[in-house]
Amino acid sequence: MDHKEGKYKVADLRLADAGSTLIEWAESRMPVLMALRRKYEKTKPFKGYRIAGCLHVTKETAVLIKTFVAAGAQVSWSGCNPLSTNDAVAATLAHEGISMFAWHGLSVKEFYWCIEQTLNIKPNLTLDDGADLIFTIHNRFPELADKYVIGGTEETTTGVHRLRAMAADGALKYPVIAVNDAETKWDFDNVYGTGQSTLDGILRATSVLLAGKNIVVAGFGHCGRGVATRAKGLGANVIVTEVKPTAALKATLEGHRVMRMDDAAKIGDIFITATGVKDVIVSRHFASMKDGSIVCNTGHYDCEVNLAELGKLTRSKREVRPNNEEYTMKDGRRIYVLAQGRLVNLAAAEGHPSEVMDMSFANQFMSQLRIVELHRKGKMLEKTVHDIPPAQDQEIGRVKLSTQGFKIDKLTKDQERYMNDYSAGT
Ligand code: ADE
Repeated sequence: MDHKEGKYKVADLRLADAGSTLIEWAESRMPVLMALRRKYEKTKPFKGYRIAGCLHVTKETAVLIKTFVAAGAQVSWSGCNPLSTNDAVAATLAHEGISMFAWHGLSVKEFYWCIEQTLNIKPNLTLDDGADLIFTIHNRFPELADKYVIGGTEETTTGVHRLRAMAADGALKYPVIAVNDAETKWDFDNVYGTGQSTLDGILRATSVLLAGKNIVVAGFGHCGRGVATRAKGLGANVIVTEVKPTAALKATLEGHRVMRMDDAAKIGDIFITATGVKDVIVSRHFASMKDGSIVCNTGHYDCEVNLAELGKLTRSKREVRPNNEEYTMKDGRRIYVLAQGRLVNLAAAEGHPSEVMDMSFANQFMSQLRIVELHRKGKMLEKTVHDIPPAQDQEIGRVKLSTQGFKIDKLTKDQERYMNDYSAGT
């Protein structure tokens, strides 16, 4: 472990060169964020502002952090999941002077220690994925919110959900922008990003054939839909479990079978949870699973698959491949749990591909910038959860399209008039 008091704690600084190559690869596939970097490195709008971030330390996140730094910000960072940090990337960032507190495989206690270290810079802005940083400030360091923080952003569905609950209770001490709810985030990252990276994680951890398998996807939100669509594309028989009638109906129209987990548990080969709630797979499900079943989670927290209950049914446990543990049950059946029930796409693979993170992180950058620009004008957003402006979505979409060489049509004045005309019908 390489540790410099107050400055960084990472697994091994000697990995920095390898990390640089990974980051360069991501940069070559993140044209929108790189365009923002080129634009704002000249004017340095973040000069004098300190950002604390708590988000997966990946090559894509490094591109975001380096863009903030190029735009003048002072940045401190921790990972938002014990198994998602890429140690080479963390080493590069620490080597380049970022206050970086992250390593792969840290304990829950170390996880919160890392978050606390990032608060030493007394941040003006927070950037979260899962709201752990915001919760830490509110619950343990509220004086930081009172004295320094002018706003924050939140990356993920689960985090936004909880922050909206907090805002409804009047408990939010500063404004937060819901980056997750940008169309150029959820409709791409959550669907295509989660779809591809989840299967990538499963394949790296198992190397099994997906064609012909019964793949049970719990949850048909944006993430579950992405996973189900990609699994179907690879020839799997997809079964969806849901609690929301309209989501279940949509799944049936996509050609998936829909049933209760109690029934799916008996016939599934691979189980993937993508719900955002706890106890989706519990004791009675493990009890009825087939020998050889594979179980994993792609939701933010590791509570969707109840591993404590699986442990009680288990006789012995061993690692059979990286990120793949075999639980031998007392009755002799074997169940394979991937990535300890944590985000399989980040723990067993590299998270979403750079191309989708490009848009998600362009939204992060623009949203943080919005808070700073308002602050410079002496203004502050209301202390609640805010959506991103629709124009930001269209601008990010426009730049992304143009970097891919696509051209689209434009409404004529006459067409615009027609669309807004309520004087005539048929
Ligand atoms: N969340 C999902 N994929 C990610 C990635 N590649 N980087 C950062 N956060 C992510």
